[in-house]
Amino acid sequence: MSPLMKAVIFNRYGAAAELQYTTIEQPQIQPDQMLIKVYATSVNPVDWKIRKGMLKLVTGNRFPQTLGFDVSGEVVKLGDRVRLFQLGDAVYARLNQLPGTAYAEYVAVSESVAAAKPKNMTHTEAAAVPLAALTALQALRNQGQLQANQQVLINGASGGVGTYAVQIAKALDAEVTAVCSSKNVELVQSLGSDRVIDYTQQDITQDSSQYDVIFDAVGKQSFSACKPLLKPNGIYVTTLPTPELFLQIGLTSFLPGKKAKFILVQSSGSDLDYLKDLIETGKVRSVIDRTFPLAEAAAAHTYSESDRTSGKIVLTVSH
Ligand SMILES: NC(=O)c1ccc[n+]([C@@H]2O[C@H](COP(=O)([O-])OP(=O)(O)OC[C@H]3O[C@@H](n4cnc5c(N)ncnc54)[C@H](OP(=O)(O)O)[C@@H]3O)[C@@H](O)[C@H]2O)c1
Repeated sequence: MSPLMKAVIFNRYGAAAELQYTTIEQPQIQPDQMLIKVYATSVNPVDWKIRKGMLKLVTGNRFPQTLGFDVSGEVVKLGDRVRLFQLGDAVYARLNQLPGTAYAEYVAVSESVAAAKPKNMTHTEAAAVPLAALTALQALRNQGQLQANQQVLINGASGGVGTYAVQIAKALDAEVTAVCSSKNVELVQSLGSDRVIDYTQQDITQDSSQYDVIFDAVGKQSFSACKPLLKPNGIYVTTLPTPELFLQIGLTSFLPGKKAKFILVQSSGSDLDYLKDLIETGKVRSVIDRTFPLAEAAAAHTYSESDRTSGKIVLTVSH
């Protein structure tokens, strides 16, 4: 039997109250994996979508399940084939197995999805980064092909993905228009936005500006609504697909002109290294809205489900 650890599990899909803080066995590692002592993990909306059963076609019906894709912690055991890391290293990672498993004191992590933790961040700040910042980076750089001096509009700029997207777009030397509600205008300005649109005061689809890239980080504006705001070869990228969007992606990929795209975040140690450089050179920071102890994961989920998070929610793990 493996040593024991504290973790948050659930035994059936449902409300936040299904999350139980309990004792389970520590995970076994594969030869290409490391055992990480978790100091912090973060809550992403996908966590409560999985908990509610919204993704059960892929997460299945085997329980108990443990959530959590983000981790920042310390390497305490190494698989035989691990080459890049050593015992005691501080690392951060975005796990690549569903439904996560980082809401725990220890987690098994493949070396290919981990990177050295940014030196100027605490574990709490670093655990906020992986899933949300990888989404922002891959949406802007890979899908949007954002170039220096281009105009980009970021919708949902105050959320987990959006706060990193604004900063990454600025690091790529783009001109950033950020969209958020009144209470988040100052925050989004402080992240470096060139212009902020308060969506409670102005309908962004009526904006007269033209953009090379529109990144809807919160999936609240359709390609059809954004199309008039795109330049002739502009690219729209969203985090939330609809059947209509897949049709538009198919159609626009074959035709010249405006494109519709969807980002599905990929775990990547090399992209986390890229983000580490942006963080250590002061170009990107984490905005932490609230932290909760791991035992209070249910309360953290309820807050995330409010759709009003400014930045990220982090779960801290004490040993
Ligand atoms: N496909 C993928 O790989 C992928 C990866 C990451 C995330 N996602 C999805 O992307 C979405 C966003 O993730 P997240 O972590 O950024 O979520 P989040 O942090 O929970 O987003 C909350 C933010 O959304 C803003 N918001 C709510 N309604 C808005 C509206 N109508 N217009 C503009 N902003 C609005 C809120 O700002 P105000 O309070 O100012 O309204 C708040 O700051 C989630 O649905 C998530 O599941 C998908």
